[in-house]
Amino acid sequence: MCNSRFKPESIKTWVVVALSHCLRELDILYEPYPDKPDILPSNLYTSKSLVVLKLEGRILLDVPRMVSLPSLKTLKLQSVRYSKDETLQRLLSNCPVLEDLVVKLRDYGDTLKKLTVVVPSLQSLSLFIPYNHDLDWYVIETPSLKYFKLVDYSDNDHYSLIQNMPYLNEVYVDCCCPDIYSLVGSITSVKRLTICSEAILNGLDFNQLEHLEVCLCTVLLSNQLVRLLNASSNLKRLDISLMDDHDPHQDMNHWNEPSTVPECLLSSLQSLSWSIHTGEPQERAIVVYILEHAVHLKTANIKSFEPINVLKIEMLEELALSSRASTTCQLMFE
Ligand SMILES: *[C@@H]1O[C@H](CO)[C@@H](O)[C@H](O)[C@H]1NC(C)=O
Repeated sequence: MCNSRFKPESIKTWVVVALSHCLRELDILYEPYPDKPDILPSNLYTSKSLVVLKLEGRILLDVPRMVSLPSLKTLKLQSVRYSKDETLQRLLSNCPVLEDLVVKLRDYGDTLKKLTVVVPSLQSLSLFIPYNHDLDWYVIETPSLKYFKLVDYSDNDHYSLIQNMPYLNEVYVDCCCPDIYSLVGSITSVKRLTICSEAILNGLDFNQLEHLEVCLCTVLLSNQLVRLLNASSNLKRLDISLMDDHDPHQDMNHWNEPSTVPECLLSSLQSLSWSIHTGEPQERAIVVYILEHAVHLKTANIKSFEPINVLKIEMLEELALSSRASTTCQLMFE
């Protein structure tokens, strides 16, 4: 359902009727302005049949004391309003088979200060905290998690506690605040990591990591790429790309050629893919360095940001002249 023309009472009635017919999936996008009364009937929170619940917009989540959703596997809450700080966790702790959770906090006008996600059954979690959100802290305790996406743009100093997640396979982090250490400590067993962070990530060890994707806007930042490569001694695949809504034309720092060649270039790296190469000298130097040192590289795939320009021609010349550590490496340049 998607329309703010509908009266809240009508929506509530439809949901009640659907619930009486063993509703399995409910998806509501509702953005009334100004705020309208609650549209969710209280028996939604005790549905035995509901498997998928997706709510988006200024919908008020006011979870009653008696809540039980024994079949709910997928829950997606985007920009909804919570009646209290405890509302979300009260709901979550009564969803015993929940596997997939997406929580996107509201851009503005949200009073939520604490966010708690404690769900033993959860396998996939995506959490989005917008720029101007005043969250004080969040706690995540999800021991079965396999996929974790965290996009945290809040400039308000906030504390996060993320418990160990031993089964984590894939992580996506996009954080502008430097405090991602409590996250990093719990993701060391990850196989695939996508990251954009300005934090100086020292002392990491991602020895299980096979596939690393680094956002172009931090790739030249204070040796971030070298730090990540240093930490990933068994890396097979390196992708450099631009995350959604990120800007490639940031101030470029210097690319400092590392004093010691990162272990993964000598032993494991097989594939390099750079999806939006601007052709700037700093970026060219990174490609040249990897080609010169990655002994087992099989493919290097470079896609230029603009179709054809002087930088691209210069880059082609530079790559043609550069030496390759791997004689069998296939270079593709688009
Ligand atoms: C990478 O590792 C080497 C060797 O352990 C070390 O000398 C170097 O400082 C590290 N580089 C960065 C940027 O952390």
